[in-house]
Amino acid sequence: MAITFELIKQCSKTGARAGRLYTPHGVFETPIFMPVGTQATVKAMSPDELKAMGAGIILSNTYHLYLRPGHELVAEAGGLHGFMHWDRGILTDSGGFQVFSLGPLRKITEEGVAFRSHIDGSKHFLSPEKATEIQMALGADIIMAFDECVPYPAEYDYAKASTERTTRWAERCKKAHTRKDQALFGIVQGGMYKDLRAMSARDLVAMDFPGYAVGGLSVGEPKPLMYEILEYTVPLLPANKPRYLMGVGTPDCLVEGVMYGIDMFDCVFPTRVARNGTVMTSRGKLVVKNAEYARDFRPIDPDCECYTCRNFSRAYIRHLLKAEEIFGLRLTTIHNLHFLLNFMRNMRKAILEDRFLAFRQEFRAQYQLH
Ligand code: GUN
Ligand code: ZN
Repeated sequence: MAITFELIKQCSKTGARAGRLYTPHGVFETPIFMPVGTQATVKAMSPDELKAMGAGIILSNTYHLYLRPGHELVAEAGGLHGFMHWDRGILTDSGGFQVFSLGPLRKITEEGVAFRSHIDGSKHFLSPEKATEIQMALGADIIMAFDECVPYPAEYDYAKASTERTTRWAERCKKAHTRKDQALFGIVQGGMYKDLRAMSARDLVAMDFPGYAVGGLSVGEPKPLMYEILEYTVPLLPANKPRYLMGVGTPDCLVEGVMYGIDMFDCVFPTRVARNGTVMTSRGKLVVKNAEYARDFRPIDPDCECYTCRNFSRAYIRHLLKAEEIFGLRLTTIHNLHFLLNFMRNMRKAILEDRFLAFRQEFRAQYQLH
């Protein structure tokens, strides 16, 4: 087995659970947030810095690495782990989601997806077999089935046909996947239709993947609808396997995801907004770039123990961002990742002490949603 999942504690009042994920590159405590390193780097962070803040597993992207520098080159370098000098966990997304985001640059058939590179316009074709071959060459610990993320909104008939095709593609990925040291996860689709979610979950569970992702959420639908679909879908997945909610990572969504029984998350949110001058605090987000912080000599979050908050003021960070100094982006990114990783650790602790609902209530009372 490439990975093993151990369920350690189930919340007595909600679906929340604490677990442990054993991979060839270390053991990770769940629920976990995976920082995004699309191009084999978590933007602005060194692997040592990521380790220091307790990151266990990061996400990288098949689509980007296939186009540049190419999966063969990465394989030659000893796989992603060797290439980027990261000896902890890596998960690669299959490329499905990125290719579908290309809009008019792509064409879907039963065989796969034809698309043009966003870099130089060159023509390419990704199929379940090709996406699996690329991910085997990249060598992540966890790889994802090649799927179509049903857009929102989508007509029932389109969502149904797309979801059935994603299931057939999952079968083809499974056949093509031969690396015993990697775990291939299935991705549940179905759009916002419960019967399609049920069909997708049932068919994928029958294929016995070592873990399951819930895809096709956080694609523009209202949050209450996302929560409704999540609450419906998660119980359809086996309790003894890890569950991964793709593309979700704001604090409020993380709490709800954990409450419904999700173990793994990824999102560009903390790193992307950091580079825009937005940081998270226990009270909600703070736009440190704003003029009101020009003379604010307090740390971003007085309760935070990250390198940024221990040493630098809002005024200094604002100055760096305004002057477009690289160090400013590093400081906000360090804080946001530390904040989110710590947030996950606190949720886990609350689950272990069977006070998750109280944690959620306290969070909702404190955290200002914008
Ligand atoms: N990232 C966010 N959502 C999705 C999804 O539905 N599929 C894949 N492959 N990646 C995602
Ligand atoms: Zn901080």
